[in-house]
Amino acid sequence: MGVLIAPSMLSADFGNLSKEVEMVNNSEADLIHLDIMDGLFVPNISYGFPVVKSIAKNAKKPLDAHLMIIDPDRYVERFRDLGVQYLSVHYEACIHLHRSLQKIKDLGMKAGVALNPHTPSHLITEIACETDFILIMSVNPGFGGQGFIENSYDKVRRIKELLSDRASTCLIEVDGGVSKENAASLVEAGADILVAGNSIFGSENPVKAISDLKHI
Ligand code: DX5
Ligand code: ZN
Repeated sequence: MGVLIAPSMLSADFGNLSKEVEMVNNSEADLIHLDIMDGLFVPNISYGFPVVKSIAKNAKKPLDAHLMIIDPDRYVERFRDLGVQYLSVHYEACIHLHRSLQKIKDLGMKAGVALNPHTPSHLITEIACETDFILIMSVNPGFGGQGFIENSYDKVRRIKELLSDRASTCLIEVDGGVSKENAASLVEAGADILVAGNSIFGSENPVKAISDLKHI
């Protein structure tokens, strides 16, 4: 399997949302990444259910929702009902993370654990075989268009090793500041899914930017 590309709709033009979704549909993207922020867990508010519903209506690729919200268990069913297939919650936002993952999986979705840049990789040890994917934040969550944190390469390597040691099939997703400048090194380090917002939607030719990442 080659690397999977997940364009982040946070950087899309919301005035032309259906066109932006159509662009992603007609590209080599594998997933559609949705950033949900509550203004508490992160210092920003993004968008909520009506926007997710409108994206879902036109999307022809699986939806990958990244919940940057406190107590995400409250909304897991709602996201499932809207057609989300990959749902990640933050390690730092879940008191009973194991239960949260169980709930996501019981509802038929792939369950992911997102880690802030400062959160040590070894903290996923006990849930390495319970989660379908680990989302490594390579910027501090909350905003698109930030600079990539260089330590992320080592973190991807450490998590890859931890998963391999346990023969886990869990995938590694990297999110934040991903571009064609760092994509190859991230894949080499062990990334399976690359999220990219600004480097896709901010480029002159987003379809080509997606293809460039896919074939890096
Ligand atoms: C940041 C979000 C990211 C963001 C990525 O909090 O989780 O998904 O949209 O955007 P870029 O690729 O522009 O850093
Ligand atoms: Zn994200």
